[in-house]
Amino acid sequence: KNYSEQYRPQIHFSPKQHWTNDPNGMVYYNHTYHLFFQYYPKGSTWGPMHWGHATSPDLIHWKEKLIALYPDSLGYIFSGSAVVDSNNTSGFSKKGKIPLVAIFTHHDPKGEKEGTDKFQNQSLAYSLDNGNTWTKYKGNPVLRNPGIKDFRDPKVMWYAKEKKWVMTLATKDHITFYSAPDLKNWKQESEFGLEIGAHGGVWECPDLFPLKVDGKTHWVLIVNINPGGPNGGSATQYFVGQFDGNKFTPVDTKTRWLDYGPDEYAGITWGNTGSRKIFLGWMSNWEYANQVPTEKWRNAMTIPRDLVLRKVNGELLLASVPVVELKNIAANVQSTASGKLPAQCMLKANIASLSDYSVTLSNSVGEELVIGYDKKTNQYYIDRTKAGKADFQKDFKGRFVAPRFATTKTSDLTLVIDGTSVELFADKGLTTMTAIFFPNEPFDRIAVKGIALKQTAFKSIWK
Ligand code: FRU
Repeated sequence: KNYSEQYRPQIHFSPKQHWTNDPNGMVYYNHTYHLFFQYYPKGSTWGPMHWGHATSPDLIHWKEKLIALYPDSLGYIFSGSAVVDSNNTSGFSKKGKIPLVAIFTHHDPKGEKEGTDKFQNQSLAYSLDNGNTWTKYKGNPVLRNPGIKDFRDPKVMWYAKEKKWVMTLATKDHITFYSAPDLKNWKQESEFGLEIGAHGGVWECPDLFPLKVDGKTHWVLIVNINPGGPNGGSATQYFVGQFDGNKFTPVDTKTRWLDYGPDEYAGITWGNTGSRKIFLGWMSNWEYANQVPTEKWRNAMTIPRDLVLRKVNGELLLASVPVVELKNIAANVQSTASGKLPAQCMLKANIASLSDYSVTLSNSVGEELVIGYDKKTNQYYIDRTKAGKADFQKDFKGRFVAPRFATTKTSDLTLVIDGTSVELFADKGLTTMTAIFFPNEPFDRIAVKGIALKQTAFKSIWK
């Protein structure tokens, strides 16, 4: 039965069948959250990319829809974004209907094989029926490759001050900003990142948006990178600074990661959600995404997270917290977690005086996943070295660590646990880690040391 297979996430989106990677085209429109995703409908490994489509009223319950975009003569449909073109700047409107416009990368596999470096170009498609059906623009591509092999993943936002669209594009080892009045005629604004940030791999899937803290607006630039993440493989870094419609200027030159675990990648935010900024990542890592032991479908998304900027000891840090809408699936609440672990749940602690603690999930065959905090090193950790299947890739086993940024004596912890994943949010989301695992029997036991955890069991989103 669909969604009840071994290892099927019960509170995270995964496609009914076959392969997915990056979330794409996330936009909120007419009370509906749209999620498009890199999708290969003919197999459970990466292949010619399509945009799959799912919608949700609450970010938690998802309904998979028809495939939105198929490959065509210009190539596969790689990652990108979608906007609500309320003023019909694109001219795609008919009969007064507001166009949803998708801006994506056309990846031409023939050009790639021939060894040219111009096989990734930016294109448009639009929908006049709430995202149900899509028409590709006849003038595609709208932004041609100037000769940069990796030239992809356009994230577009409306820059109201200058009444123009701004595109943030990953261009190999840096970001290039473009602008257009109409989503069609793009001109280069500026470049960012050649001398800053992590450069252990290619830059992909960027995002740019404003966030307020203490009444002041700052800009956050998200840049995914593969490989070169803090735990090996793919990961999400971010910069905080100012954006003036032309140029992004960071406040400092430190490299920071939005999620320090091994399994959050290609994360970006929903458009058209007002002052709220909601982030979603792909819950895997390119190191082993094609090999993880599921066959009917492969890979899932993280829990959607609200992003907030916090000032911590003079630094501006991006914090992530799971969306409150998770309450829509809350079932049993228990004031202390111990003994039996529900198949999917949230565990929460308020810690008056932070010291070593650990949370161990285990099963009847002696496998375990350990999550905790180590005071000596001042690090959070997730240890999946004994958490079950790992022979599909040599580096899957591991103990992953993340720095603590808060300096208070008090602390807090939120863990979101599904059958094959844990997401850790500590110190109101200042430290975040995501990790997947594949135990041979479900983790149905829990042992907690050093803290007390309140436990909220979740109903499956698929039932
Ligand atoms: C990131 C990525 C993107 C690209 C897509 C292809 O995971 O490599 O840069 O558009 O996946 O599926």
